[in-house]
Amino acid sequence: MARKIVITSGKGGVGKTTLTASLGYKLARLGMRVALVDMDLGLNNLDVTMGIENRIVFDLLDVVEGRCRVKQALIQHEELLNLYIMPNCHFERKTITAHGLKEVIGKMSELFDFILLDCPAGVDIGFHRSVVCADEAIVVTTPHITSIRDSDKVAGILKTYELNAIYSVVNRLRGDLVASGEMVDAYEIFDMLKLKPLGIIPESDNINLYNLSDLDGASGYPYEVLAGNLLDGTGTMLDCTQRYSGFIGRIRRNLKRNA
Ligand SMILES: Nc1ncnc2c1ncn2[C@@H]1O[C@H](COP(=O)(O)OP(=O)(O)OP(=O)(O)O)[C@@H](O)[C@H]1O
Ligand SMILES: [Mg+2]
Repeated sequence: MARKIVITSGKGGVGKTTLTASLGYKLARLGMRVALVDMDLGLNNLDVTMGIENRIVFDLLDVVEGRCRVKQALIQHEELLNLYIMPNCHFERKTITAHGLKEVIGKMSELFDFILLDCPAGVDIGFHRSVVCADEAIVVTTPHITSIRDSDKVAGILKTYELNAIYSVVNRLRGDLVASGEMVDAYEIFDMLKLKPLGIIPESDNINLYNLSDLDGASGYPYEVLAGNLLDGTGTMLDCTQRYSGFIGRIRRNLKRNA
């Protein structure tokens, strides 16, 4: 049976879809059978983000409404054959129930080790429909006050569901700004949210999910650490500030500031 994990945030645009795709890729690289599910019935973008929009024949709603079977809608990654995407290219349908979605995700559970659910922003019906399908949740937060505040609200709501674990990921952390005291540290955010720390992802200059194999290089390392934490329960955290500490670090900070 798969571990079903919803990736959520409250605030939009903080990196849920990016994390879903990158973490899924790393879990698949570690030999897991992984499905990424686009739960955004209104503003889907997992397919576009991953460059598979031209390969879609059926989607999640076709499965829920009985027009096709799960395996007909799943799209296999071209290189990593144990990674699949369940797209969603319909507009919002009022008739779709959380129960219908939960049943389909339940069926998928027999085929995979991990199902990552890319949740829509906000805390309305789309959020609810995604969370009821999951048994664990990851709350993505950026080091900005609006994102932290929304994540805190979402964490409070998630605690009212019967989830086995609620994790916290800090995304887009800038080691240079943390080292100079201009950005809040990830550990302060973990303390504020009081969720299980799962990982820290630094701000990156080159995110290209069209070509997920880019993640086999250095830019993918933070996601690899996260995948390892999910698998073995260790809380290994990336140190984004090390490069910017001490005398040489101060020079690097100044160079980055003037870049
Ligand atoms: N670690 C990172 N470093 C730099 N840019 C990032 C990082 N993570 C995400 N981004 C960028 O932030 C933007 C929003 O990311 P993404 O689409 O994953 O967010 P989202 O939370 O899924 O948004 P939505 O709420 O609209 O679904 C994208 O342009 C993405 O490339
Ligand atoms: Mg998204």
